[in-house]
Amino acid sequence: MSRHADYRKLSVVKFYERRLEESLKSFIPLSYHPGGVETTRMLIEEANISENSIVLDIASGTGETATYIATNTNSEVIGIDLSRKMVEYANTLVKITNLDEKVKFILADAERIPLQDNIFDAALSECTLCLVPDMLRVLREMRRVVKPGAKVAVADVILAEKIPGNLANKVLHVSCIPTKRTLDDYINSFRKAGLREVKVKDVTKSVIDQINQFFKEEMGGEGSLYFPNTLEMGIRDIQKISIDLWLSGRIKYYIVSGVK
Ligand SMILES: C[S@@+](CC[C@H](N)C(=O)[O-])C[C@H]1O[C@@H](n2cnc3c(N)ncnc32)[C@H](O)[C@@H]1O
Repeated sequence: MSRHADYRKLSVVKFYERRLEESLKSFIPLSYHPGGVETTRMLIEEANISENSIVLDIASGTGETATYIATNTNSEVIGIDLSRKMVEYANTLVKITNLDEKVKFILADAERIPLQDNIFDAALSECTLCLVPDMLRVLREMRRVVKPGAKVAVADVILAEKIPGNLANKVLHVSCIPTKRTLDDYINSFRKAGLREVKVKDVTKSVIDQINQFFKEEMGGEGSLYFPNTLEMGIRDIQKISIDLWLSGRIKYYIVSGVK
């Protein structure tokens, strides 16, 4: 791995750690993916997670998805994340909610999963492959650790089409798409990683609904999860650019899945 790739990984981790710190100041529990629980539900369905499964959540963040899966499907979940702060926060969350028998979080890089081959009934990831320098490597790792016939499913922010360089520079800073990948990049990487029956589901509507809900709440003066008052203006401006990109269809939210 080049020093540049390591630097990119660390800057992503630091960015989300800052968001975690901000949200803890205002006691707002956050998950860091578009569409909220609605897109998580769809991802669980696409990953074929049934009752009593053993599931891997790649880049588990604050642990909300893992705890949702454990609570709603009675499954065991291991989450991995490259941020020590996220891992500590998530492990504390499962301890105080008495889920620590079923859900555990470990500090690890998605490009080098420190777990055995063929042990999971499903591996999923939300809003993270769009951030990692080597998506193919992560997909190969996800495929390695699931059982034969199990699914690998990823929900991600994906560009509708390649964008011109000048816009690309702005886009780098918004919406989790520094890697500027398109749907074709995803489909090709899934196939290259040895995953078959690659399937795509467009779930952008859930994100647009969430944005519209935000506007409604903002009009009513309720504030929003995505614009906590504690965030400084710079981030608010960036988020506005991001919303424009969603509403104009330049960026989409897809679930891409494949079978080992
Ligand atoms: C956009 S957040 C998504 C978190 C969570 N999946 C969710 O939906 O709320 C991205 C997360 O990826 C983690 N991350 C970034 N690069 C990673 C890597 N190479 N390996 C593991 N985790 C990584 C960050 O620390 C952060 O928690």
